[in-house]
Amino acid sequence: MFLRTTVLTTVLVGSHLGEALVARSGSPHASPTLTASFETPSYRYSSFSYTQLTSDRYATPLPSPISFPATFAPPFSEASTLLPTEVTYTTYSLNPTTTAATESETDGYGQQAYAELWASLSYSSAPPFTTTVSPTPVPSSELVFPPALTPYLANPEKKLPENFIWGVAGSAWQIEGGLQLGGRGPSILDTIGALQSNDSASDANVATMNYYLYKQDIARLAALGVPYYSFSISWSRIVPFGVAGSPVNTEGLAHYDDVINTCIEYGVTPIVTLVHADYPPSVVADMGNLSTHYLYYAKQVMTRYADRVPYWVTFNEPNISVGSVAKSYSILKDILLAHAAAYHWYKETLGGTAQITLKFANNLALPLDPTNSTHTASAQRYQAFILGIMGNPLLLSEQIPSEVLSTPNITIEALTSEELATVKNTVDFISIDPYTAQFASPAPEGIEACAANSSHPLWPSCATLTNVQANGWLMGEASNDYAYIAPQYVRQQLGYLWNTFRPKGILVAEYGFNPFADANRSLNAQRYDLERTLYYHFFLREVLTAIHEDGINVIGALAWSVLDNDEFGSYANMYGLQTVNRTDGRFERHYKRSFFDYVDFFHQHIAS
Ligand SMILES: *[C@@H]1O[C@H](CO)[C@@H](O)[C@H](O)[C@H]1NC(C)=O
Ligand SMILES: *[C@@H]1O[C@H](CO)[C@@H](O)[C@H](O)[C@H]1NC(C)=O
Ligand SMILES: *[C@@H]1O[C@H](CO)[C@@H](O)[C@H](O)[C@H]1NC(C)=O
Ligand SMILES: *[C@@H]1O[C@H](CO)[C@@H](O)[C@H](O)[C@H]1NC(C)=O
Ligand SMILES: *[C@@H]1O[C@H](CO)[C@@H](O)[C@H](O)[C@H]1NC(C)=O
Ligand SMILES: *[C@@H]1O[C@H](CO)[C@@H](O)[C@H](O)[C@H]1NC(C)=O
Ligand SMILES: *[C@@H]1O[C@H](CO)[C@@H](O)[C@H](O)[C@H]1NC(C)=O
Ligand SMILES: *[C@@H]1O[C@H](CO)[C@@H](O)[C@H](O)[C@H]1NC(C)=O
Repeated sequence: MFLRTTVLTTVLVGSHLGEALVARSGSPHASPTLTASFETPSYRYSSFSYTQLTSDRYATPLPSPISFPATFAPPFSEASTLLPTEVTYTTYSLNPTTTAATESETDGYGQQAYAELWASLSYSSAPPFTTTVSPTPVPSSELVFPPALTPYLANPEKKLPENFIWGVAGSAWQIEGGLQLGGRGPSILDTIGALQSNDSASDANVATMNYYLYKQDIARLAALGVPYYSFSISWSRIVPFGVAGSPVNTEGLAHYDDVINTCIEYGVTPIVTLVHADYPPSVVADMGNLSTHYLYYAKQVMTRYADRVPYWVTFNEPNISVGSVAKSYSILKDILLAHAAAYHWYKETLGGTAQITLKFANNLALPLDPTNSTHTASAQRYQAFILGIMGNPLLLSEQIPSEVLSTPNITIEALTSEELATVKNTVDFISIDPYTAQFASPAPEGIEACAANSSHPLWPSCATLTNVQANGWLMGEASNDYAYIAPQYVRQQLGYLWNTFRPKGILVAEYGFNPFADANRSLNAQRYDLERTLYYHFFLREVLTAIHEDGINVIGALAWSVLDNDEFGSYANMYGLQTVNRTDGRFERHYKRSFFDYVDFFHQHIAS
C-alpha cells in the first residue's frame, strides 16, 4: 500500500501526467514497453449532448421453405413395403373408467388395456388447452436486438465453415406436455410429477405445452433466423404399448409428420432423435429384446419421415440409462446393438443417405493434478466408462476398454467378434454434450480398492470428481446446476474426442448454461442473461480455435435449450434461450438476450 502511494505521488507532482512519465522513462529503470505504448491524452471541454445508444435492429428471418437438393430416402409410398404386414394402426383415448364389461378385448391392446397402462399414474394438473394452436407471425416488437455488446465481445477473424450445423435442441418429454393425450402411452419418465405434486410447476403433464404449440415454436425459431432444430420423438406416442408387434398410434405418426413439415415450411432443418431417455416401461422390462422393439418403432418413423430428415440421432446419452433404466452396465451393450441394427436397416434396407449418430454425455474428466499419474489414470478411467464402452467399438472397431471389463462384478461382457463387426463404423460422426469439464482424482481408498468393492459409492469409475482446482479456485462461473463457464477446457474436450476416437467430425449436440437462482428473477432480468451469452460466445471462440489451430473438424453446435423446460423434475434449472410463462394460461414465450447474441455469433462467423 505504501509503495503504491509513493508511485502515485511521483506521477501527480508532474504538472502533466504525460510529462511525469516521460521524465521517468529517462531513468535507467524505466520500462521500455510502458514508454512505447503511452500516448498523451489531450484533455478538452466541449458542449455535452446525449448519444443515442439504443437502436432497433431486427432479427433476419430464415428464407423459407427449405428445399433439399434431393430427398434423403424413398418416399413412404415406396418405403411402406418394408414395414411388417400385421400391424394394427389405431389411436387411443384415455378413459380411466373403461372396464372389461364395456368392451371385448381380443388381442390385449384395446382401450381397456390402454387405460390399464395408465392405472398407476395420475396428474394433478391438466393441460389448459388440447388442440394445436395455429401459428401467428412473431411481432416485430419481439425481434428487436438487445443492447449491442460490441466492442466488449470482439469479432475474431476466424470463420466457421459455410455448412456449419447450428441451432437449438430440445426433447419430447421435457417440453411437450399432454402425456395422456393424443393416444400416447406412458414412458419411464412419466412418474416425475405424477401423484407427487399438486403444483403445476413440477408437472410434466403440462411442461411447456409444445405438443400443441409446436407450430408457434418453430415459427419463433424461423423468425429469429435459427437454421437447425434438434428435437426428439416420443416412442410411446408412436407405439403406446412400446413393444414390437403392438399397435401403432396414427395420431402420433401424424403429429411428428407435421412437426417435420412445419420445420421445412418455415426453413428450419430438422434433426431427429429417436429416444431421449423416455423409454416405454414395457421395453425397459424386456431390455434383452431392445433391438427388436427399437427396430419396430424406428421403422415406423423412418419409413415415413426419412425422405425429409438429413440427420438422425438414434439414442441420447445412453450412459444415463445406467441406473435409471437398468442397474447394469450391460444395458449399454443392448443400446449399442439396437443402434447398430437401426443404422444398418436405414442405410442398407431403406437406402437412406442421411447421416446417423448416437449422442454421448461427456463432461470431460481432466486430471486434478496432471503431474500425478494416479490422477491421470482416474481421468482416463472415468472416460473409459462414460465414452470408451461405446466409443471403442463404434469408432475404433476396438473392444470395450480393459479397465471396464476387468472391474470385479461389472455386468457387461466383451463384445463377440460378430458383435464388433456389426457395430463398427455405425456412426457417421460423433455427437457429444460437453456442457463443462471436471477434475478427477482417485477415490480416497485408491482406484484398485474402490474397483474391488461394488458397494463403494464411487464404484465403478472410482473417480472423485470436482470443479474446484487443486489451488482452491473454481474452474469458472458456477450455474444453478453442473455447468461452469470454463471455456479454457473446450479445446481439450474436443481434442480428447478427436484424437482418441478419430471421428470424421464432431457435433456439439448440446451445450448450455443456466444462471444461478434464475427462477427467482424478474422476467426482464431473466431475459437479460449475459452469463449465458458469455458462455456461448467464449465456448464458440474456442471451437473456432480448435478448428483453425488444432485441426479438429467440428461440424456443428446445438444449444440446450430451445426453451426453459422440465429438467427432469425441475423448472428452476432454466437452460432455455427462451422463457415460458407457465401461469398465464397461454404459455407465452419470450426470447432471451443470449438467443440474439447466439444468432449474431453465427452471422458474424459463418463463411459465405
Ligand atoms: C395432492 O392433492 C391430493 C388430493 O387433494 C392429496 O391427496 C395429496 O396428498 C396432494 N399431494 C401433495 C404432494 O401435496
Ligand atoms: C424376446 O426374447 C425372448 C428370448 O430371446 C424371445 O423368446 C421372445 O420372442 C422375444 N420377444 C420379442 C418380442 O421379440
Ligand atoms: C452420465 O452422464 C451424466 C452427464 O455427464 C452424468 O451426470 C451421469 O452421472 C452419468 N451417469 C453414469 C452412470 O455414468
Ligand atoms: C498423487 O495423488 C494421490 C491421490 O490423490 C496422492 O495420494 C499422492 O500423494 C499424489 N502424489 C504426489 C507425488 O503428489
Ligand atoms: C459382487 O457382488 C456381490 C453380490 O452383490 C457381493 O456379495 C460381492 O461382495 C461383490 N464383490 C465385489 C468385489 O464387490
Ligand atoms: C465397501 O464400501 C462400503 C461403502 O463405502 C464400505 O462400507 C465397506 O466397508 C467397503 N468394503 C470393503 C471391503 O472395503
Ligand atoms: C428462490 O425462491 C424460492 C422461493 O420462492 C426459495 O425457496 C429458493 O431458495 C430461492 N432460490 C435461491 C437460489 O435463492
Ligand atoms: C406470467 O403471466 C402472468 C399472467 O399474465 C403474469 O402475471 C406474470 O407476471 C407472468 N410471469 C412472468 C415471469 O412474466
